[in-house]
Amino acid sequence: MMFKFLATALVASTAVVAGPVARAQLDVYNPEITSPVSAQVWAVGTTQLVSWDLSSIPSSQYDKPGMLLLGYLENNSENLDVRHPLATGFDIGAGNVTITVPAVVGRDDYVVALLGDSGNISPEFTITNVTDATSATSTAAAIATSAA
Ligand SMILES: *[C@@H]1O[C@H](CO)[C@@H](O)[C@H](O)[C@H]1NC(C)=O
Ligand SMILES: *[C@@H]1O[C@H](CO)[C@@H](O)[C@H](O)[C@H]1NC(C)=O
Ligand SMILES: *[C@@H]1O[C@H](CO)[C@@H](O)[C@H](O)[C@H]1NC(C)=O
Repeated sequence: MMFKFLATALVASTAVVAGPVARAQLDVYNPEITSPVSAQVWAVGTTQLVSWDLSSIPSSQYDKPGMLLLGYLENNSENLDVRHPLATGFDIGAGNVTITVPAVVGRDDYVVALLGDSGNISPEFTITNVTDATSATSTAAAIATSAA
């Protein structure tokens, strides 16, 4: 399942992003994302650590730049926000990167995708948005309203 997510994520990102994520850079070592864990909760505006397991990545690749994208699982897609990366240009070999949770609608099916010389997608987690005052079950309505 993780491999399927990854393959889709790479297709989605390469279709839209040119340059920073050149196709040749996307050879896959498949590191497990260790944080966020499944069902973790992040609040908008907070600082969070995203980390991954380095054991599957050759050390020769550690200084390659990574990119971290936020997405959510809907319609069998990761819906990665390639225009607003959570982080770019960090060393894959660092094993973690600190990000600020962007002002997004609260949902319980967010994922982060780590791309670079390695790539993988996290378990689903939640972002809460206090000004939203709605639960994830009404997120679809909120999106429909804001799109109207
Ligand atoms: C998912 O599919 C529904 C029905 O076609 C559509 O209304 C919705 O916008 C889609 N969601 C995304 C994220 O594309
Ligand atoms: C994050 O990465 C840095 C650099 O590799 C490391 O020193 C630090 O221990 C890591 N922090 C956590 C919480 O994993
Ligand atoms: C909550 O989400 C809305 C979009 O629905 C966004 O405009 C707003 O900035 C978010 N709230 C916070 C505190 O970021």
